[in-house]
Amino acid sequence: MKPGISCAEFDFEPYIYSLVELIKDDKMSCFPCCASQERINKKSLKKSIKEYHEAKTLSSFANISFKTDSGKRRFIADEIAKLGKGNVTSKVFSYRDLCSATQNFHPPNMIGEGGFGRVYKGNIKSTNQVVAVKQLDRNGFQGNREFLVEVLILSLLHHQNLVNLVGYCAEGDQRILVYEFMENGSLEDHLLDVTPDRKPLDWKTRMKIAGGAAKGLEYLHEQANPPVIYRDFKASNILLDESFNPRLSDFGLAKLGPTGDKTHVSTRVMGTYGYCAPEYASTGQLSTKSDVYSFGVVFLEIITGRRVIDNSRPSEEQNLIIWIHC
Ligand SMILES: Nc1ncnc2c1ncn2[C@@H]1O[C@H](COP(=O)(O)OP(=O)(O)OP(=O)(O)O)[C@@H](O)[C@H]1O
Ligand SMILES: [Mg+2]
Repeated sequence: MKPGISCAEFDFEPYIYSLVELIKDDKMSCFPCCASQERINKKSLKKSIKEYHEAKTLSSFANISFKTDSGKRRFIADEIAKLGKGNVTSKVFSYRDLCSATQNFHPPNMIGEGGFGRVYKGNIKSTNQVVAVKQLDRNGFQGNREFLVEVLILSLLHHQNLVNLVGYCAEGDQRILVYEFMENGSLEDHLLDVTPDRKPLDWKTRMKIAGGAAKGLEYLHEQANPPVIYRDFKASNILLDESFNPRLSDFGLAKLGPTGDKTHVSTRVMGTYGYCAPEYASTGQLSTKSDVYSFGVVFLEIITGRRVIDNSRPSEEQNLIIWIHC
């Protein structure tokens, strides 16, 4: 297990809300830390401060004013560092560092593409570390919120079955995440998109992946405080190292779970069709159980080698869950 903080020691909810409020991503097309003289929305700042005081864990934002890009950027980096109590391992990279790591995002270095943007293999020259560099598509919807949530969660939570965030870059309008490179790509590549040159996963490896992914989820649900609901548990988000140890990736959709007596949080329905729990999809009520449903779907994919939704199959077989019940 990587050195990390005991999640029970901190409560990061007010930080996330305050910082997300601060960047006001739904309304702005650009991270305010880079929108040089952008004024912080006073109403949202007031709300942030209220949450901040209520939580009684943080100093106030009240006397913070940001005059420059770098000031805001430093503030966010400092807040993350403070909260991590010295355990934050992610670094702030310059855009130049990452251009150098990926040979200017050279197309042959691209290893994948998802909803967030393109992923490149790279090498951080100063440490000679091989990394995966995910560049946010600047036209992407909700990108800033996802970027920040991912940085916060992966900077603060550390477990052998969660991907390691090496660092990030929020320079100008760039939003880039830098991860430890996972030699065997995603579970999807080995299970559902198997090329003829690739050996299918043996049974033992499949069970090792399922067990490790479950441990990652258990950590988010049982040890993080408040619990973190992953919301995007699917085969393409389970990355595999050189020994096929799984690590969960993509925390941009993650939500803080219910606290106290509450059983769920109400939120917009997000996730991937097929993996999303039906009761969450129909009511918007999200709980850790929604992730457990998605785990069940992936587990069925693991044991059958079939994709949950596969339109190339006969109609009665297109939905794996319905087909299994027949
Ligand atoms: N840390 C990493 N190491 C190695 N390969 C990676 C890493 N992160 C991502 N990849 C590769 O890049 C691909 C695209 O990843 P990405 O998370 O952007 O999209 P996705 O999970 O396929 O789709 P979605 O955006 O819907 O989650 C992955 O399937 C994987 O093959
Ligand atoms: Mg992914």
